[in-house]
Amino acid sequence: MTPPADYHKNDGQRGQKSAYGPPNGQWAGGGGKRFYGPVLVLYGAAIIVLLLGAAFYAYSRLAPAGSQPIAYNHKKHLALGLECSSCHLGIADGRAHARLPSVEVCAACHSSEDENPRTKVIRDYVSGNKPIPWKKIYGVPDHVYFSHRRHAGLGKLDCALCHGDMSKAEAPVTKQAEKITMARCIDCHHKLKVTTDCIACHR
Ligand code: HEC
Ligand code: HEC
Ligand code: HEC
Ligand code: HEC
Ligand code: HEC
Repeated sequence: MTPPADYHKNDGQRGQKSAYGPPNGQWAGGGGKRFYGPVLVLYGAAIIVLLLGAAFYAYSRLAPAGSQPIAYNHKKHLALGLECSSCHLGIADGRAHARLPSVEVCAACHSSEDENPRTKVIRDYVSGNKPIPWKKIYGVPDHVYFSHRRHAGLGKLDCALCHGDMSKAEAPVTKQAEKITMARCIDCHHKLKVTTDCIACHR
């Protein structure tokens, strides 16, 4: 990893604040300083890598917060006494896919009578009859077959086993509560004496 040629020019500020380097301008310095130059450049490069790393880490943690079009709150809605199946209609219909709610589901309560300023964003979708572009966080590859009817319906497994406790979720889902892996599917099947034949899941 070599720092770019104009590295001193751009990052004098950072170097200056750091505990390691002398103030800006002296790093490349001539005379007696020459011997330490490469060492200081290395320190400087390390600091920049750390700063970039910290910035990227902060960004990667913040980015998903805006990844759903509406700041939906499961906790508030479940506190009203709603069932999962009243919004995830695939559960009510006994389908393989639970499905993310369409705008009609929200329109039942967030139509023009609702004047809460915090729900304006959702009323705009309702009045324009525009689909809400929710992003799916949970998914399996095309070569895997998974069915909610089988697990939540016939198997009567609690949603929380695979999705965590949604009654505590105050912000949209940004990551899988239990990461979907083949090992996890097989582990539960093994414990509950359900088939682990390749062809049951890979059809
Ligand atoms: C059964 C009625 C009902 C349905 C259906 C419903 N909501 Fe709500 N929603 C409410 C009520 C009541 C509040 C106000 C809760 C509060 O302020 O404590 C609310 C509040 C909100 C808020 C503001 C949240 C906040 O933090 O203040 C948003 C955003 C929202 N709903 C989005 C949706 C979306 C999106 C849907 C469809 C998937 C939906 N709602 C479906 C009743 C409903
Ligand atoms: C045994 C684990 C398991 C249980 C139990 C489970 N799910 Fe899922 N859920 C999954 C998997 C795996 C996916 C991804 C499936 C896919 O892409 O086909 C998923 C996807 C979803 C999705 C995304 C939309 C969709 O249709 O793919 C929603 C919403 C959802 N589940 C809600 C629920 C609800 C509500 C319950 C309880 C009634 C529930 N799930 C029970 C494993 C589970
Ligand atoms: C009032 C409607 C409503 C109810 C009731 C509701 N959900 Fe949701 N659910 C949503 C909306 C809207 C989203 C997409 C935004 C988000 O992630 O919060 C969603 C997303 C999810 C997801 C993430 C799916 C994915 O792949 O993105 C899961 C899992 C989920 N819900 C599970 C549940 C469970 C379990 C229950 C019942 C305990 C439940 N939901 C009740 C509206 C609802
Ligand atoms: C928490 C436990 C659990 C997890 C996790 C789980 N399953 Fe299951 N699975 C079950 C149970 C229980 C049944 C049997 C349900 C019934 O029909 O009574 C089942 C049944 C099935 C079936 C039907 C099997 C047959 O007899 O043909 C398939 C396919 C399947 N699961 C796929 C998956 C996949 C894919 C995953 C991972 C993404 C997964 N399961 C994760 C518990 C689990
Ligand atoms: C209970 C369900 C289930 C069973 C049984 C199962 N798998 Fe999988 N398998 C999955 C899921 C879910 C994935 C995707 C998630 C992942 O890659 O971990 C997957 C992924 C894979 C992949 C792709 C891995 C990759 O890195 O892309 C292969 C290959 C595979 N399975 C082979 C098998 C073979 C061979 C068997 C039988 C010995 C088997 N599976 C049995 C659920 C299952």
